[in-house]
Amino acid sequence: MKVFNTIQDLRAYLSDFRNNSKIGLVPTMGALHQGHISLVNESKKQADITVATIFVNPTQFNNPEDLEKYPRTLKGDLEKLQAANCDVVFAPETKEVYPNKPEVSINLGAITKELEGKFRPGHFDGVGLVVSKLFHIVQPDLAFFGQKDLQQFFVIKKLVDELNFPLQLQMVPTERELNGLAMSSRNMRLSETEKEEAGLLYESLKEAQKSLLSSPSTLTVKATIEELFKKSERLSLEYFEVVNTSDFKPLQVVTEKEKTALCIAAEIGGVRLIDNLLLIS
Ligand code: PAF
Repeated sequence: MKVFNTIQDLRAYLSDFRNNSKIGLVPTMGALHQGHISLVNESKKQADITVATIFVNPTQFNNPEDLEKYPRTLKGDLEKLQAANCDVVFAPETKEVYPNKPEVSINLGAITKELEGKFRPGHFDGVGLVVSKLFHIVQPDLAFFGQKDLQQFFVIKKLVDELNFPLQLQMVPTERELNGLAMSSRNMRLSETEKEEAGLLYESLKEAQKSLLSSPSTLTVKATIEELFKKSERLSLEYFEVVNTSDFKPLQVVTEKEKTALCIAAEIGGVRLIDNLLLIS
């Protein structure tokens, strides 16, 4: 596995592969878990050469404390990528990606103002900016993102469609713990009891999915989920919404089942967790 820290070295290495190989990109912020490895595995299946990036992107953090607390585990990450037979890793310093405070900004419109956008203002602008940079730096044929960050996937899809990036986006299903908790780098900050209790996010989503498949109104389902969370000692619900994936606006009634997603965010022990299910998965 080759590891590069500079754009120049990475580009020089990839230039030999550009004409005759499919390049797969797996962008990450490190603190890798099985969810990331499943993205690498998928890329290994579909591309000839897999490039994983490890970069904690400061422009997508609206809260400086969150950026500071974000786990940085480069050595372990490289071991995991090596074990997954990843071909190339790009792990730049902040100065390599942002030599100066960026003046360019990317605003992907209304979809970025819903759900996560409301709780993390500016977050998706930062994601759009860094992902555009990574697409330019790596120039992949395929790029892999996890379903766990569903809204992020659709924001990036908008970026690719509107800016005509010549690549194919792939969404890879969420990896889960035994109790259904979605794997996330943030789970490292949870105690065993908190992890156990956080299984409620997935339980609620499954319960809501079942109800919505038999009745399209979202109001009673939302009330039921809110009640479930009120009973929980440690978890506090930030939102549970049923949305159309074209715009992520909350729905009162499900009209297009195949475009409907159930999204949830909750906080436990100072850690924010998100999860989702597609209504028809
Ligand atoms: O999903 C993530 O880990 C990040 O948002 C991404 C896509 C790597 C951009 O920094």
